[in-house]
Amino acid sequence: MPKDTLTVTDNRTGKSFEIPIQDGTVRAMDLRQIKTSLDDFGLMTYDPAFTNTASCRSKITFIDGDRGILEYRGYPIEELAEKSTYLETAYLILNGELPDRVHLTEWVHNIKHHTLIHENIKKLIDGFHHDAHPMGMLLSIVGALSTFYPDAKNIFDSKIRREQAFRLIAKVPTIAAFCYRHSVGLPYAYPDNELSYTGNFLNMLFKMTELKYKPHPVLERAFEVLFILHADHEQNCSTNAMRSVGSSHVDPYAAIAAATAALYGPLHGGANEAVLRMLRQVGSKANVPEFIQRVKRGEGRLMGFGHRIYKSYDPRAKIIKQMADKVFEVMGPNPLLEVALELERIALQDEYFVSRKLYPNVDFYSGLIYQSMRLPVDMFPVMFAIPRTCGWIAQWEEMVLDSEQKIARPRQIYQGPPRRRYLPLEERQPD
Ligand code: CMC
Repeated sequence: MPKDTLTVTDNRTGKSFEIPIQDGTVRAMDLRQIKTSLDDFGLMTYDPAFTNTASCRSKITFIDGDRGILEYRGYPIEELAEKSTYLETAYLILNGELPDRVHLTEWVHNIKHHTLIHENIKKLIDGFHHDAHPMGMLLSIVGALSTFYPDAKNIFDSKIRREQAFRLIAKVPTIAAFCYRHSVGLPYAYPDNELSYTGNFLNMLFKMTELKYKPHPVLERAFEVLFILHADHEQNCSTNAMRSVGSSHVDPYAAIAAATAALYGPLHGGANEAVLRMLRQVGSKANVPEFIQRVKRGEGRLMGFGHRIYKSYDPRAKIIKQMADKVFEVMGPNPLLEVALELERIALQDEYFVSRKLYPNVDFYSGLIYQSMRLPVDMFPVMFAIPRTCGWIAQWEEMVLDSEQKIARPRQIYQGPPRRRYLPLEERQPD
């Protein structure tokens, strides 16, 4: 009769242990009983970079990396991208269900009610150099929000948690747009709450002297889709940062500052910026084969390719690639598109990439869209951070309410020197 257990024999002692298997996992703590002597600490698992460790139970996002499937709360990403809006998807991610008409209206109203930022935040933005990276600005300002809303520290109060969700989802686009306007030396454009979430974002980015900004419907919809695609992605690096920092019970602003910092890196949300710089460096279709050879020799990575979980085409990249043409029809063709297409064509036939299951990820084509909308490359990771805010909050809230969670505190294998006596300066030998 098969049993959901694992029998392990410790060959150091000859003892056997039967360990329960639940949901395809064994609990690392169940290994602690495996000892060579009474004073032995017990067996641990070693998993740098969490390549085979589940850190939580989650009901938010499902990914099947081999089949290229992504679902939020059970809904396929393709359907949400086609039929939903970002705010509706954010509601779904945070609440577990799609809203009815009444709840959606109330939700949108609550978010639109919080789009303004305190005037002192403008002064903070003013203090940055004109060439400050907007991601550095965003993470500082989001962290600073913690000082404007000290009530946010009551993380076990559901009403207060919800209030911070409204504030964050509403204010992050305002802060992001203000950072952009600061970097290009334009006056800040205040939110227009008559517009949609993404229409207003376009307004705050691009409004000039017109009295009322009218977003182009294709660009407005393109942002809705891009925002839906970036809304959550289960336990990635920044979400892990959000949960890990949040596990100390700090307020969500401080935790989102940490998550934003994690997203900034070129291996994560900074990849869309790195892709664009790479495409510029490659320059033309003719240079692609040589560039691919350099990547294969280990002289840099093909940015926007590869993923820890997806071992097939990232479903988000597929949707973005299809959408790019619609944006180019409005904004004009992007000459770097043919370089990107050629990189993809050659890489997908090359044994190096095929054998490692390296496919385009979400960041490969998104930058081309942002670029054709005239956004500077250093704004690209910010464009990732804005929609990911709702995913971070949902994951953080799930962690806060999970009775199995405690402060995140991994173990280590110590490999430094053994205990020794402090050497006074006079006794130390020069190197
Ligand atoms: N170009 C060339 N080789 C690659 C690439 C790449 N983009 N990605 C992975 N490899 C190789 C890597 O060198 C390794 O080869 P080998 O087995 O010979 O040592 C093998 O593929 C496995 O790579 P890994 O680094 O062990 O994989 P990982 O799961 O730790 O890293 C990744 C995943 C996304 C960090 C990595 O694929 C990468 O650096 N990609 C480029 C950056 C990028 O596009 N990041 C965006 C990720 S998607 C959006 C997001 O999450 O933010």
